[in-house]
Amino acid sequence: MNAIELLKADHKVVAELFKKVEATTESEHPAIFAKIKAELDVHAHIEEVIFYPKLKAEGNKELIDIVLEGIEEHRQVKMFLKEIAALVDDSEKFEPKLKVLIEDVEHHVKEEENEMFPLVTDQFESDVLDELGAEMEEEKENFRESATAVATGR
Ligand SMILES: [Fe+2]
Ligand SMILES: [Fe+2]
Repeated sequence: MNAIELLKADHKVVAELFKKVEATTESEHPAIFAKIKAELDVHAHIEEVIFYPKLKAEGNKELIDIVLEGIEEHRQVKMFLKEIAALVDDSEKFEPKLKVLIEDVEHHVKEEENEMFPLVTDQFESDVLDELGAEMEEEKENFRESATAVATGR
């Protein structure tokens, strides 16, 4: 998968989890949230260490501005994820925050897919996008392994 296909596939996984939140009762939300968080953690990571830096280094001004906005949105989303993770036992706060998280992520994904990715496709050669996709795929594995290592104390 090239970079754009890979990131869009990730977005789709998260969108499915969001739908699951809507389709289930509150008691099931903490477990779904844990999956959402795991997906967003790794997705934000590969964008931040591989995808965004490449666009920032070689994209035009319009693209760089969108990337900078994206970085700020990531910061907000990550803060939210942390807050929500600490609220799983407090449904009165957990539920509304989860809703706002979903809205924020949906907004961010729309901006990436409708504004950022078309510029990327215009400004980068397809072999570069293939290469970036492979790098991100590998980094996903690394990130998951280190997350597991932390969780199990290895
Ligand atoms: Fe992003
Ligand atoms: Fe993304």
